[in-house]
Order: sequence, then C-alpha cells, then structure tokens
Amino acid sequence: MRREFIFGSIVATLAVLALSVVWRDALWLLVFVMPVVLIGWYDLLWGRNNVARNYPFFGRLKELAVEERHIPQQAVIQNSREGRPFSVVQRQIVADRTRDESGTQPYGSELELRATGSEWLAHSAYPVDEIEGALTFELGGPRCTVPYTSSILNVSAMSFGSLGPNAIRALSRGAGLGGFALNTGEGGVSEHHKSGGGDLIYQVGTGYFGCRDEDGNFSADAFSESVATESVRAIEIKISQGAKPGLGGILPAEKNTDEIAEARGISPGEAVHSPAAHKEFSSPRGLLEFAERLRDLSGGRPVGAKLCVGRESEIDDLCEAMVETGLPLDFLTLDSADGGTGAGVSDFVNWVGCTIDLALPLVHRKLSDHGLRSDVRLVASGKVISSFDLVRLLALGADGCNSARAMMQALGCVQALKCNTNTCPSGVATLDPSLNRGLVVGDKSQAVANYHRHTVEGVKKLVAAAGLERLGQLDASCLRRRVGLTQVATLTESLQTR
Ligand SMILES: Cc1cc2nc3c(=O)[nH]c(=O)nc-3n(C[C@H](O)[C@H](O)[C@H](O)COP(=O)(O)O)c2cc1C
Repeated sequence: MRREFIFGSIVATLAVLALSVVWRDALWLLVFVMPVVLIGWYDLLWGRNNVARNYPFFGRLKELAVEERHIPQQAVIQNSREGRPFSVVQRQIVADRTRDESGTQPYGSELELRATGSEWLAHSAYPVDEIEGALTFELGGPRCTVPYTSSILNVSAMSFGSLGPNAIRALSRGAGLGGFALNTGEGGVSEHHKSGGGDLIYQVGTGYFGCRDEDGNFSADAFSESVATESVRAIEIKISQGAKPGLGGILPAEKNTDEIAEARGISPGEAVHSPAAHKEFSSPRGLLEFAERLRDLSGGRPVGAKLCVGRESEIDDLCEAMVETGLPLDFLTLDSADGGTGAGVSDFVNWVGCTIDLALPLVHRKLSDHGLRSDVRLVASGKVISSFDLVRLLALGADGCNSARAMMQALGCVQALKCNTNTCPSGVATLDPSLNRGLVVGDKSQAVANYHRHTVEGVKKLVAAAGLERLGQLDASCLRRRVGLTQVATLTESLQTR
C-alpha cells in the first residue's frame, strides 16, 4: 500500500499539473488532491500510528472512523435498547421530560422485560389516587442546627471546570425554578453557581478548592468565606466518587483560567493536583471531627460525606466511630461504581468500587444495625434517569437521590463522550467559549426544571400505583427481580450483601 500511495500521489499531482496546461481551471483539482497527498506523505514519513504509516492517509481515515464511531452509531445504527452508558430509550425519557412532553409511548415496551436480572415495581390491585406528603426529606441530624428540606432529586456534584459556565448557570437557574439543589463539585463555589438562585451543596474535595491556603492545606477562613452565601445549604466532604475511587486528579494548566482559579482559590495558568486522600484526616474519627469543625464554621449546616463503597469493614468502622464519638454525619452520599466523570482512568472507571444496587442496602443495613439510621440520611447516585430508577433507590434505603448525567442530558448533552477533551459539541462539558454559546441558559434552565418536575411527579404516580399512601412506606419488598428464567425474588431476598 505504501508503494501504491507513493506512485499514486506523484501520478495524481503530475496529472493535474499536465491537465492545467491545456485547461487552466484544472488547477482547482489540487484542492482535493493536495490534502490527501500532503497528509499521506506526513503519515508515511513521520506518522506515529502503525496503520497510518503502512497505509498513508487511508489508515488515518480508518482511525478517525473508529474514534468517531459513536456518531453514526447514535444517528442511524443503534436500536432503542442500545447505546452506552445510556441507551436511546433512556435518553429519550430525559428529552421528552425536558420538552414538557407527556412521555407516553406507543405500542408497548421496547425493553427485554423477560431477561434475567430485570426488575419491576409490584403494583397493587388497590392503588391510591394520590400519595400524602411532599416529596422532600430533612437533611440534618442531631448535631445540625440549620437543617435543609431537600427535594428527593438534586443535581449531583459536577465542578465548574468539568462543566462550562453556561451549563453551571443553567443548572443553577433550573434548580432555582424547580426548588432543588445543585452540588458544586470539588471546584469551589463560582459566581455561576450563585447566579440562578438554586440551593447549593458545597463539596469539599481533597484539593480543598475554595477553602485552601497557598500550600493547598485546608483554611478555616477561606471555608467560612465560601459558605458565607445563604444559598449554600449543606456541605459534602468528598472521600471518593464511583468512577474513580481512590484516585486523585489534576487540573491541567490550560483549564486553569482566571475564573476557575478565582472559584478554587489558586493561581491561574498552572497545573494543580488533587491528591487521592485528604490531608485533614486519615481515620473515621478524624473524618467525624473534621465534619464537626465544618459544621461549626458553617453555622450549624448539615455536613455529610460522599463515597463509593470499597471495603465493607470500613463502613462498620465509620458506624462504630459515629456511635463512639457521638458525632454522626448528617448524611452519607453513596455513589455507584458505574457513575460518571469528566475524565477518568479506564481501570478505575471499569473495575474499582461497588455499584449502588449492592452498596446502598449494605450501608442502609449497617447504619440500622448501629442504631444510626434515623440520624444519618442516605443519598444515592448512579444512573438515575427515570422515575422508576429513583423509586428503586428509595426502596433500597435512600432518602434522596442525585443525578449528574441525566441533568447533563437535560442541558443538551448528546453523549458524544468528549468530556475529557474540551471539545464537547453541545457546549456542556467544555470551557471553549465558541462551544459554550450553543447552550442557551434560559432554554436549558427551563429544560432542567421540567426534567426534575416530571421525574419527581412520576415517583408520586409509581408509589400510588403500589397502593402506598406515603413515600416512607416504600421498601425493597415493593420491588421484584427475575433471578432465573422462571424465578422471581423480592429485591430484599435477591440482594446478598454482607
Ligand atoms: C462531568 C462530570 C463531573 C463530575 N464531577 C464530580 C465532582 O467534582 N465531584 C464528585 O464527587 N463527583 C463528580 N462527578 C460524579 C457525579 O457527581 C455522580 O456521582 C456520578 O456521575 C453518578 O451519577 P450519574 O450516574 O447520575 O451520572 C462528576 C460526573 C460528571 C459526569
């Protein structure tokens, strides 16, 4: 192929030049010929890709087709059940809800309802018309003096930096319109977070962004300043996230703009490292004492911790420490191993941590065993898209749920899988102003509020269909799972957690 390319490129160039002697306009053909010739010769001589060096230009075309295969796949090839991490059916649910459409579906289910592992809600022959009570829960245990009444669905942590300014503004305004909260992620509280009137959960990560001194240590003064705004309703200490538990991160220099640096309390233009572990604590007791300190500094606001479950014994240790110290966390946010990230390392994205369907019942049970369940609220995240996804996690023990990627989809994310390249085509996960302009804050804030409202309303309908009068009556016995071709178990029975 190399020989053919060398011969072909010389002949094609000479042929066009010869033709131009008799027909001047033929020179225009070089517009098509020269890119192939120049790129091909570059690949041949200096290319770093094996296939492209052997098959100049055409090898590169093939690489491009592989890299961008999701575009034709999503546009024409996929059936409704395909698409990863989210299928066409799942993305359609979000799209319908953002457009305020009814979400009705013709003809019947497109899912494999008879497959082993499929789950459903056991409805009642005696459904109720409407359930009682608001779909909210109180965030704040015995040590908290300013509890927060939270929606059962909030926006999961995504920092300004992983999302662009318009995306954060639209989420903030959407949360304000819909009466729910937006987690700042570990990048600090930016002006964009405060712009739309939504409630905020301030996340304190290992980089202590927004609450650090010049050396990257926790600073009580900087923390007090960050939480001084009334919209900060709670504080979440990030221990780990499902997509990359136990791994730190780096903010590349080119992403460290003046605005990002201001929100994070760092100097612009330099790469900044977030370590894997916190400097402020290295034991359950240390975590609880740090949480108590943040509670005091924030005037008594709820303080919790976010983690993806790894070693089960560490959950026991945490429960024991809460009992021994009398300093229970106000909430625990449990993230699923199949959760999202702006940029993750594939070993960690795929093979570290426990998924939420196993982690949530485990932690729920351990807290109950230690007599802590009424003090510590449980928030769960991991691929919450539909109202059933929410009901499922509430039934498994959650008081509320967070969603990151469904909210991104409500903002217009098309699952292009470019969050780590700053080239997100929908302008959601990029800082490039020329791409951010695609995301119109007014439209998308309404879309986010619509998605939230329809999803929470859907929960009401599902709980009523189960014949329950209140959300609090929902538990794992309301759900069924097909565990074999002809075997069914309640979710309580089917989940074998240590
Ligand atoms: C673009 C992006 C940025 C994220 N940034 C953070 C972060 O700063 N802190 C954090 O704890 N989790 C972060 N996450 C994880 C989410 O908060 C959430 O836990 C996870 O995606 C699971 O929720 P989902 O399945 O609804 O997306 C991020 C996720 C995404 C997609």
